[in-house]
This record gives sequence, C-alpha cells and structure tokens, in this order.
Amino acid sequence: MAILVAENLSKKYGSKRSIQYEALNRFNLAINKSEFVGIMGPSGSGKTTLLNLLSTIDTPTAGKISINNEKVTSMSNNKLAKFRRKEMGFVFQDYNLLDTLTIGENIVLPLTLLGKKVTVMEKQLVTVAKQLGIDAIIHKRTYEVSGGQLQRAAIARAIIHNPTVIFADEPTGNLDSKASLQVMESLRDLHELHQTTTVMVTHDPFAASFCERIIFIKDGKLFNEIHRGENRQAFFQDILNVQSLLGGNTDDLQTVRF
Ligand SMILES: Nc1ncnc2c1ncn2[C@@H]1O[C@H](COP(=O)(O)OP(=O)(O)OP(=O)(O)O)[C@@H](O)[C@H]1O
Ligand SMILES: [Mg+2]
Repeated sequence: MAILVAENLSKKYGSKRSIQYEALNRFNLAINKSEFVGIMGPSGSGKTTLLNLLSTIDTPTAGKISINNEKVTSMSNNKLAKFRRKEMGFVFQDYNLLDTLTIGENIVLPLTLLGKKVTVMEKQLVTVAKQLGIDAIIHKRTYEVSGGQLQRAAIARAIIHNPTVIFADEPTGNLDSKASLQVMESLRDLHELHQTTTVMVTHDPFAASFCERIIFIKDGKLFNEIHRGENRQAFFQDILNVQSLLGGNTDDLQTVRF
C-alpha cells in the first residue's frame, strides 16, 4: 500500500519574470508503507528539491502529493504545520540541533511541540536514546559530543514522536566512515523495529546500500530504479553500476568499504 504518492511533480525556481530553472520535471513516485527508499543522482540533479517537496518544506510549481491519504499539496499552512509536526521526522546533513539545549532536550523537542507530559517525554527519551546507543550523553551539550553522536541524536529526535515518515537529506554527509556506518546501522535497526517509512537522499553508495530501493534522478527526471535483494554487498555493486551509467559522477565513487 502506497503511503506517499507524488504525481507529476514539477519545480521551477526563479520568478515568473526572470529566467526560470526547472529542477524537477513531472516526477512520479509512490512509496509503500514501511519502505526504506534512497534517492541518488549527480549534484544538481534535483534530489534535495524532490525531498523538500515530499516533506512539504517547499511547494511544487505543479503536481500533487498525498501522504497517508491526505493531500498535502492542498492543505492550509496551519493544518500543514500540524501535520508535519505529528507525521514527519527530519534528519539533515548538518544535524540542525540547537546548541543552547542539551542532547536530551533536543531529542524531546517534537514531543514538547506536541504538548506531551514531562513524564511521557522522559520515558520516551530513555527508550530512543538507548535504541541509538546515546543514553550516556543526553545531559551533554552539542559541542561536547562527536558528529556521529550528534547525528544519532538528530535521528532520535526524528523518531521520538513515532512519525509516519522520516525524511533524511545526506545524513552521513558530514561523517567519517566509522560514524557513517553507525548512523546507517541505527537507521536500519530503527526501521526494522518501528517499520517507519524512510526516505533518504544520499551521495554515498555505502549509505545507500542500506536502503531497500534506490531511485536515481538525472536532470530532474527519473533515470533508473533498483531494488535490493538479500545481499547488501551485491546491492552496493548495483548502485555503483547505475552511478557509472549516470556519468558525471566520478567524485562520488568511493573506495569499497565493508
Ligand atoms: N532556491 C533555489 N533557487 C534557484 N535554483 C535552485 C534553488 N535550489 C536549487 N536550485 C537549482 O535546482 C537544481 C537542483 O538542485 P538540488 O538542490 O535539488 O540538487 P541536488 O541533487 O540536491 O544536488 P546536491 O547533490 O549538490 O545536493 C540545481 O541546478 C540547483 O542549482
Ligand atoms: Mg542536495
């Protein structure tokens, strides 16, 4: 069953009077409940544009999006803000944690915004922090922990309110290979545990190999799509193969690391 459906999505940047750039061109996509989908493609191909539209951070020039049978493209701003808060979790490349709060306070922010009781928040915090292996650092500040820990805190924040879908844009983009592995294993384990639908943009074939399906974009259009079989190594190789077909992407080709 599709939980997220995008039909004929287009996005043009620039005002009507200036030169417009079409970053996304009549894009169609259906994501099933509990699916873990990766979005890949060369720099400038429209990955972030697509993710921002799907996650309602930005609005399309044309086309429709529905999430959980709710048509988000025609929702009022007010309703959309509530929908986003309740149904979505976000993970960004640069973590987007607040330096003035502790790690724990950052993680419970979605629950704070939903007006949950303190006792509920504390219980949930302990549970997710343990799941992500960061329970020892919840009283620390953002500048006292590593990048990998910051990203796992951001992931804890993204899932603490049990959202329908998690959107992640380059979650391993600022991390070394060891921290990337930990973050991807966390995302995979959480995905197995909660079956939360997850949509992740990434340049990194290693990170992408944790997904169940990869959608490749080129010039704002669908280029190819591949599904994972039993084996992550084989999927990693498939991803590299599509990347070489895509071309113009050699800077993204990484040394193999398993
Ligand atoms: N706010 C904006 N105004 C004008 N053009 C934009 C804007 N955002 C993106 N673009 C253009 O739209 C195209 C797609 O950008 P997008 O950020 O979606 O690419 P991307 O695939 O995420 O690239 P990267 O891998 O570098 O993050 C690019 O040509 C970009 O320059
Ligand atoms: Mg991008």
